[in-house]
Amino acid sequence: MSYDFTSLPDSMDEFWMPFTPQRYFKKNPRLVSRADGMFYYDKDGKEILDGLAGLWCVNAGHNNPVIKEAVKAQLDTLDFVSFFQYGNPTAFTAASRLIKEMPKPFTKVFFTNSGSEAIDTALKIAMNYHRLRGEGSRRILIGREKAYHGMNFGGISVGGIPPYHTHFGQTLPSVAHLRHTHDLEHNAFSRGEPTWGAHLADDLERLIQFHDPQNVAAVIVEPVGGAIGVLPPPKGYLKRLREICDKYGVLLIFDEVITGFGRLGHISAVNYFDVTPDIIAMAKGLTNAVVPMGAVFVKQGIYDAFMKGPEHVIELMHGYTYSGHPVSAAAVIGTLDAVHKGKIWENAKKMAKPLEDAVHSLKGKPRVIDIRNIGILACVQFEPDSKEDPARMAREASWELFRRGLVVRYSGPQLYICPPLILNENHIDRIVTSIGEILVEMDRGAGAPRKTG
Ligand SMILES: Cc1ncc(COP(=O)(O)O)c(C=O)c1O
Repeated sequence: MSYDFTSLPDSMDEFWMPFTPQRYFKKNPRLVSRADGMFYYDKDGKEILDGLAGLWCVNAGHNNPVIKEAVKAQLDTLDFVSFFQYGNPTAFTAASRLIKEMPKPFTKVFFTNSGSEAIDTALKIAMNYHRLRGEGSRRILIGREKAYHGMNFGGISVGGIPPYHTHFGQTLPSVAHLRHTHDLEHNAFSRGEPTWGAHLADDLERLIQFHDPQNVAAVIVEPVGGAIGVLPPPKGYLKRLREICDKYGVLLIFDEVITGFGRLGHISAVNYFDVTPDIIAMAKGLTNAVVPMGAVFVKQGIYDAFMKGPEHVIELMHGYTYSGHPVSAAAVIGTLDAVHKGKIWENAKKMAKPLEDAVHSLKGKPRVIDIRNIGILACVQFEPDSKEDPARMAREASWELFRRGLVVRYSGPQLYICPPLILNENHIDRIVTSIGEILVEMDRGAGAPRKTG
């Protein structure tokens, strides 16, 4: 059998696409057929710069030969064996390799298939940890407004995105939310961590006291808010969260699905902010998105709390058919090798300042009311020009930018920039120049995208 996966599909009717307006998309499809390095290519071979690293995940760039080699080698030897009481060597090797690279206190890793599953796994571990230590009343989980923790029911419950609560119900009964840290009056156009806002962490103490510390299990935050707007933490904010958690025996969970694996120039945001949580969830860049995988890292003390009963009894009643899938594990190993071989995280550190300078040059462009950045992550926020459809400008800009050869993401009145970490200054210039041009053209009413939807 020979396959050609580059040609257009016969029909686009059947696939119900995720997080996409179906009818709008299918009238204006954006399909790519091939990818390499920093670029996608459409069916005619037109080059499209990937300014979003797939979806915040292709950190080592597309079509990386080292990762491909690892995955192919695994496919040629063992396609699958369950980890429910059997095992494959590749996942054990991937786990050891990861733990060697992670900040010291993290000694164990649990594998999942996605970020959403990693989040729900982290929440379950946290609640069970307290139960096993005789503090079973600790059931309350604290999240934060504007947080995205994936789409499983635990994640949307601690997540702080109102429509998910409206559409699906607030499914965990015992959750509370910290206030978010975005404040246009005090920290608009901050470069990196805003200097204003560390005191907002004190909201955690208020919530813990309100619910009674003996009832609170954990607080979960993205060290840098991602999907809802690239929100770097105010200077000192994460340290303050850590102090409050320590004071009340509450676990601190970092959702590093975006910040992990190089986005801030390190394997973990712990290295960047010098604040250590108790549990870390990762996914995305972990396998460079070649195949799906998520991971939950815990400190030894958390693991030990589970290891007290008889040895023949399952300690954590949790797992997924594909936890530790050999092909995903091979992709982890390949990704680590590729990152070291290409000095990719070093490049991320080097490019952070040029990216910061370039995106902040968009200040003063039409309707731009905030620009935020940290590591290889940035966001441009617009003043909405329509109350009924606040995302209009960002959406139309994103569609038009794709037509002109650039992928960036829009969400609400914001455009996100999150390129692969192999970027150079030319890529940055191309991304920022294209965005600047489209904003000016849209403001003049010229160059507005084709009528859509
Ligand atoms: C911070 C964060 N957590 C969790 C998730 C969920 O990951 P997944 O889509 O792999 O389930 C995402 C996805 O974008 C994310 O950005």
